[in-house]
Amino acid sequence: MTTALAAATLLVSAHGASATADGPPGAPGAAGIGDAYFPGAGNGGYDVAHYDVALAYAGPRTGEVDATIAVTARATQDLSAFNLDYSGPRIVGVTVDGRSAPYTRAGQELTVTPGAAIPDGRTFTTIVRYAGRPGPVRKQGAGTYGWVPSKDGALVVAEPDGAPTWLPVNDHPRDKATWSFRVTVPKGLRALANGTPGPTVQDGATTTYRWDERSPMATYLATVAIGSFQVRETMAGRIPVITAVDPKFAASAKELESRTVKALTWASSVFGPYPFATAGGIVDDVRLDYGLETQERPVYGGFVPDDDFVAHEMAHQWFGDSVSVHEWRDIWLNEGFATYAEWLWREHGGKDSAKKIFQRYHAQPAGSPVFVPPPGDPGARHLFGFSVYVRGAMCLQALRDRVGDPAFFSILRTWADARRDSSATTSQFIAHAERVSGKKLGTLFTAWLFTPGKPEKW
Ligand code: ARG
Ligand code: ZN
Repeated sequence: MTTALAAATLLVSAHGASATADGPPGAPGAAGIGDAYFPGAGNGGYDVAHYDVALAYAGPRTGEVDATIAVTARATQDLSAFNLDYSGPRIVGVTVDGRSAPYTRAGQELTVTPGAAIPDGRTFTTIVRYAGRPGPVRKQGAGTYGWVPSKDGALVVAEPDGAPTWLPVNDHPRDKATWSFRVTVPKGLRALANGTPGPTVQDGATTTYRWDERSPMATYLATVAIGSFQVRETMAGRIPVITAVDPKFAASAKELESRTVKALTWASSVFGPYPFATAGGIVDDVRLDYGLETQERPVYGGFVPDDDFVAHEMAHQWFGDSVSVHEWRDIWLNEGFATYAEWLWREHGGKDSAKKIFQRYHAQPAGSPVFVPPPGDPGARHLFGFSVYVRGAMCLQALRDRVGDPAFFSILRTWADARRDSSATTSQFIAHAERVSGKKLGTLFTAWLFTPGKPEKW
């Protein structure tokens, strides 16, 4: 601690020395937040409070977007310059607190130098305007993601690092913020996003849709879906449920709605009160063949999800969205939990039990993708690997067997409640499980999360 502090002080004074008396004091914010898997992701020196996203989408023929994004953040150091993560279309201009600010781009780093340094603790607003055609990224192990054009619009699915394809952001789940979206589309098209719908404004040939996400949300969970949609609204208890399907899936619109309501009702009874204001789901006609737990409104790329799939994305609202990973290496806290929720859901259905599912997987050979790599630190290439999902879920079954049902479900509920709207690490979960159960669990978690091969005793 002392050493790190001394080094930091040295760095600051080195920068201070090179600045002239009237030059900006302070130091540039770091270009990464310090995530081992994604060194360029996130940035240092500020904490985002709110993203205001205004998009004008010209239509599927050109795919052109004119976007104005206002990022309101609080400086956590004296900032002479700061970075946003952005890999989208040509920038038209950048302002900081209303004054035009010079910027440079290198890879996904957008470096902004405000006219005067921003003092530690000050809240400042950066506005970035861009114009052009955002596009997706493709990566091994993650497929196609980011801004994905569809036949009649676009769908955003940005996990893990696709948010910069369409927005300038502090791209890390540790820095969550509230969001507002205003999406202007040609008349006849629709736009959906996270959270609660606001008033729709017709203006000649265009319609503007407004959505507000009032709970803190990670950047990779921000979504818009633009196109033709059949939209349904209902209630699950006090929670408005808004679902939408591309016309190609019109015959399944009702099914998506009823599965979502069912999953929400069941998950709330197991994990505790639903953590957000609204719920829902979007089925779009883009062949991704995977879904994403986009906050309050999961998206499904090119298919109608079955009950298990909906239960998985619903469970993520608690585990992943409300309680986010502190680092990407903690990903099993998302995927292991959501997968275990599927098992619980099947157990609830009476056709199977989580324990039996565990046993079937445990019969697989040690070299199977079920076990390799250990899910506690899978590496960026295996972020969505099978073992993160399945061995992660098996870890929770092992925990349940050890502590018994009352303690196990109490661990899950109190975890969701205590860490609501924040982020957390694997070691914090282990400490939490030990505290709630009153048992030493180090050996169990080491065996299931970190030890190569197949756990045989724990
Ligand atoms: N979190 C998603 C799920 O519910 C998976 C996302 C995969 N992302 C990707 N780019 N393929 O399992
Ligand atoms: Zn998942």
